[in-house]
Amino acid sequence: MTARHVEGAAAYVPETVDLGRLAGAVQGCRGCDLFQGTTQAVFGAGPAAATMMLVGEQPGDHEDRDGKPFVGPAGRVLDDALLAAEITREQVYLTNAVKHFKFTRAAGQKRRIHKTPSRTEVVACRPWLFAELGAVQPDVLVLLGATAAKALMGNDFRLSAHRGEVLRPPDPGVPDNDLQVVVSIHPSAVLRTPREGRDAAYDGLVADLRLAASLLV
Ligand code: URA
Ligand code: SF4
Repeated sequence: MTARHVEGAAAYVPETVDLGRLAGAVQGCRGCDLFQGTTQAVFGAGPAAATMMLVGEQPGDHEDRDGKPFVGPAGRVLDDALLAAEITREQVYLTNAVKHFKFTRAAGQKRRIHKTPSRTEVVACRPWLFAELGAVQPDVLVLLGATAAKALMGNDFRLSAHRGEVLRPPDPGVPDNDLQVVVSIHPSAVLRTPREGRDAAYDGLVADLRLAASLLV
């Protein structure tokens, strides 16, 4: 089987810093195959004036149906962690590295099971993330999980080696070079952690968010 050419989102991203226009245009994106079988694209949400941007991986089943990021179980963990770090939802713009839900379905099953997006799909979708960064121009960027971290910090980036650090984005495609970057685990990783380690995993997420909040002037 030969790999199909993946066009990428660039041709679909309008040249604008208007989040409403971007959010409208993303529904027509055919930059990769992930739109197939989904309900809709899930664009970021939050005020254009947000000083902090949080990036997850991709919408899940709930987000695909609702059209909003982080409204399912992982979103509840994130909401709790933001509250614990004294960050309000109004301060943050919340989005994902990939805008369509990638899933598989076990034979004969209705339930859609999350599938991690490939590097090709992450790179294909990245123009939307860059457009969001250009529109919101946050001071602080929090990358939640390996997919988001690699999307902006490069494919060789090791999340666990850089927890608790304040980083600069190395990718020349990232629009704002004054950006300070913090990486953390994905909230759904907290949910996947066995019970005995779950509180520690959650506390780690909160600590990273506190670090991010401390960078806001
Ligand atoms: N996981 C994510 O990474 N993003 C969402 O929006 C929901 C779950
Ligand atoms: Fe476009 Fe991203 Fe959806 Fe692929 S996942 S179709 S690049 S919006």
